Amino acid sequence: MEIVTRAARLRAVLHGARSLGRSVGLVPTMGALHAGHASLIERAAAECDLVVVSIFVNPLQFGEATDLDRYPRTLDTDLEGARASGASVVFAPSVEEMWPGWPEPRATSLVVGGVGSLWEGASRPGHFDGVATVVAKLFALAGPCRAYFGEKDYQQLCVVRRLVADLSFEVEVVGCPIVRDADGLALSSRNVLLGAEDRRAALALPEILSAGQAALDEGEQEPAVVARRMAGALAPGSPVVLDYAAVVDAEDLHVPERLDTERPLRLLVAASVGAVRLIDNAPALSVGALVPSAAAGATSR
Ligand code: PAF
Repeated sequence: MEIVTRAARLRAVLHGARSLGRSVGLVPTMGALHAGHASLIERAAAECDLVVVSIFVNPLQFGEATDLDRYPRTLDTDLEGARASGASVVFAPSVEEMWPGWPEPRATSLVVGGVGSLWEGASRPGHFDGVATVVAKLFALAGPCRAYFGEKDYQQLCVVRRLVADLSFEVEVVGCPIVRDADGLALSSRNVLLGAEDRRAALALPEILSAGQAALDEGEQEPAVVARRMAGALAPGSPVVLDYAAVVDAEDLHVPERLDTERPLRLLVAASVGAVRLIDNAPALSVGALVPSAAAGATSR
């Protein structure tokens, strides 16, 4: 496995591979690799001839300096993990290499609207602008490839799909399922920041998602009622502070007027546990999908 720190070298390695007819898989990460990342790298290795894992804690996507400072950095272990999962190249640039002149503001950055302005976009202004800017740069450096993103950051995946469509990158975006601990907590690099008690309390997030699915399973058709059921799953006195819990259209992430729809839905939740912000999500079966006659009835009314 080659460790590359220079953008020009990454371009040359990947261009060389493609000129020999080898396909390239890109797994963008901010390091602190866990089994969720391993699943992305393994899938990329199964589907592509050469896999590059980028490890870069992108300062552009953090609101508060403290959040950026606190973000776990474990490069040595990450290199081992990337190698064991099948990476051929790790791209681990410095901030200066990615953003020359940092911390001076860049002359060029992307601004994300639409699907990126809701939920995380509303709670963390500028976050998706920073994500889109760094992902666009990684795509520009990687060239034509398949790029693997976890559904854990479901809205990010939607933003990246739009980025590729809007700016015509020669990249096929592959979304990969969330990996969870045995007790249901979605794996996240931020989980290591949770103390034992907060780690237990964080299980409220998957419970909130289950409460949303239960409401849908019972035939609830009002998104606001489902959202209330989700919020109500939080035990009184829980240290978890809910930011949002909602059932949304899985593609545009808007709250649909009613849930008797054939369109795919997604349950979203975001909350803070102490100083740690966590997000989770799950695909949801709509009332329309569960009870076909409900959808038919709704359209004929
Ligand atoms: O999901 C992440 O780890 C980051 O947002 C990404 C896509 C690597 C961009 O910095």
